[in-house]
Amino acid sequence: MNILLLGSGGREHAMARNIAASSRCSTLFIAPGNAGTALLKKAKNVDLDPVQFTDVRNFVLQNDVKMVVVGPEAPLVAGITDYFAQDAMLRNIMVIGPSKQGAELEGSKDYAKEFMTRHNIPTAAHRTFTAKTVEEGIDFLATLKAPYVLKADGLAAGKGVLIIDNLQEAQQELRNMLQGKFGSASAKVVIEEYLSGVELSVFVLSDGKHFQILPTAKDYKRIGEGDTGLNTGGMGSISPVCFADKKFMQKVEERIVVPTVKGLHEEKIPYKGFIFIGLMAVMNENGERDPYVIEYNVRMGDPETESVFPRIKSDIVELFELTWQGRLQQTTLDIDPRTAACVMLVAGGYPEHYEKGNIITGLDKVEDSLVFHAGTKLDAEGHVLTNGGRVLCVTSLADDMPSALLKSYQELAKIEWKDQYYRHDVGQDLLKMML
Ligand code: AMP
Ligand code: GLY
Repeated sequence: MNILLLGSGGREHAMARNIAASSRCSTLFIAPGNAGTALLKKAKNVDLDPVQFTDVRNFVLQNDVKMVVVGPEAPLVAGITDYFAQDAMLRNIMVIGPSKQGAELEGSKDYAKEFMTRHNIPTAAHRTFTAKTVEEGIDFLATLKAPYVLKADGLAAGKGVLIIDNLQEAQQELRNMLQGKFGSASAKVVIEEYLSGVELSVFVLSDGKHFQILPTAKDYKRIGEGDTGLNTGGMGSISPVCFADKKFMQKVEERIVVPTVKGLHEEKIPYKGFIFIGLMAVMNENGERDPYVIEYNVRMGDPETESVFPRIKSDIVELFELTWQGRLQQTTLDIDPRTAACVMLVAGGYPEHYEKGNIITGLDKVEDSLVFHAGTKLDAEGHVLTNGGRVLCVTSLADDMPSALLKSYQELAKIEWKDQYYRHDVGQDLLKMML
């Protein structure tokens, strides 16, 4: 069948690789894709904007597309799944991604917190405030201990969470947020208890009633070594996460995944897609780690996908078909037991000002590792050019984490462009935990 994948990042390149490898896929269209997806066998980039639903509709009908896989959250939050379900011509096309209501788990932090409260899912205690209740919010902050966690309710391009040590500063920021610091995204602000622990990402594929838990991953969000400096889209990832052992994952499944999927089903929220659960593993008084939900996303993570998907050996298109049919319980996943280490190469200056359009060399010298493009494009002569802050990443698989990391760092040294930057310490925190 013909499949359309929406998105243009490293996440989509990694997904496209698995999709194109399926014997069920005839042609894979990627809208808009990047220079990496353009080079995949069976794949074609198409110049479509994923949130222009009428254009997507016309393309799907003209090109006999039978499945649409949604990479980023924006089309989901804008309701692409409902748009297809409500159109007689599109109704039978398999859309992998939740309904608009399901996407609110990512689109509104307040909605997600209320959902977790209703279903007894462990998360930080919270309260939500608006401009009308700002004074209550100021008083509430004074009852909490530092650090203070303030979250814009809506999508704020990953910048909407502030963690502040000083009470007066937190109170001032609450006012700023409610006065529009993040536009309409901070018309509501969630204030929550600070959780201290180690973060990890758990990925679930759900058909709305059943689920499969995909490999775990840890990402590296800050620009600087030792997790310092500004937040980025992600500077690398490791899968699996060493401390997420059988016992811990059993807690994740029982306390979080089961009630989440059951909650969606009970509330009749159509959800055929990925659930990305951002977790904090918090040490309890018995010296064991307990999982708490920091956030839900309604898509795969980036750059977690670049270490998770290379480990999925099951036919991904078959998994998507089972998802659409509500039969995900009828399969077991085939996962590569090796460790995947992904290191992101970014343009100098990212996440602030950076150049685009520099020629990338050495891509053909990379052996044995996977290169996923994130922000690249091809010029008329066939050169691969930088076209974003996060440019590309190198993922390697090996029997253990040190070997996977070594391979990624050796291979990425072959890739060059003017003013390139990457973190040298991806995975080092996990290695220390293993000592
Ligand atoms: P979010 O956008 O909700 O993932 O938050 C961004 C980052 O803020 C997370 O990845 C955490 O590192 C941190 N964070 C969010 N909520 C909390 C919390 N309640 N306690 C501690 N850190 C948090
Ligand atoms: N890596 C975090 C995210 O995709 O939101």
